[in-house]
Amino acid sequence: MKALVLYHSQEFGNTGKMAEAVAQGLRDEGLDVTLFNTDESRYPINEFAEYSCVAFGTPDYYSYPAGTLKTFMDDHYIARVRKGVKNLQGKPYALFYSHGGGGKVKPAMINMFSYVGNQIGEPVESYGAPDQKTLEDCKALGKELAEATK
Ligand SMILES: Cc1cc2nc3c(=O)[nH]c(=O)nc-3n(C[C@H](O)[C@H](O)[C@H](O)COP(=O)(O)O)c2cc1C
Repeated sequence: MKALVLYHSQEFGNTGKMAEAVAQGLRDEGLDVTLFNTDESRYPINEFAEYSCVAFGTPDYYSYPAGTLKTFMDDHYIARVRKGVKNLQGKPYALFYSHGGGGKVKPAMINMFSYVGNQIGEPVESYGAPDQKTLEDCKALGKELAEATK
């Protein structure tokens, strides 16, 4: 089974470190994981159909997810509704985010990704760089997502 960890990380690599830990939890449960940072390029939306589950990670940008992940959701809608691409919905997904002390992104994040499928677990947050406990929580979230997918 294939899992996608789709995230935006740009400023310090905080969200990227969380993404690696979520990926490790998924791998520990035997899933084949792809990590993709949307800061580096636009995600090829048709490939999303291949994945059994997904973890989304974002920094808090003005209490909203990063624009590249909004673009992902725009592409997801257009591919699904206007172009008829199949198997883009109904996926279990998990959420994680980093922030600089405000951290009000959570409700917008929960709403934005709700079109993808069923949210598993609670979003993991990090204030600044993730500490060891936060990385363990990310790994546990990856495991929980894998278990819900199998
Ligand atoms: C353009 C911009 C807007 C931001 N807005 C917020 C914000 O509204 N609230 C907050 O808590 N942090 C905010 N931050 C801080 C980032 O969320 C935080 O530094 C994050 O950990 C960066 O993740 P990264 O290192 O993975 O890129 C903002 C950072 C940038 C660059």
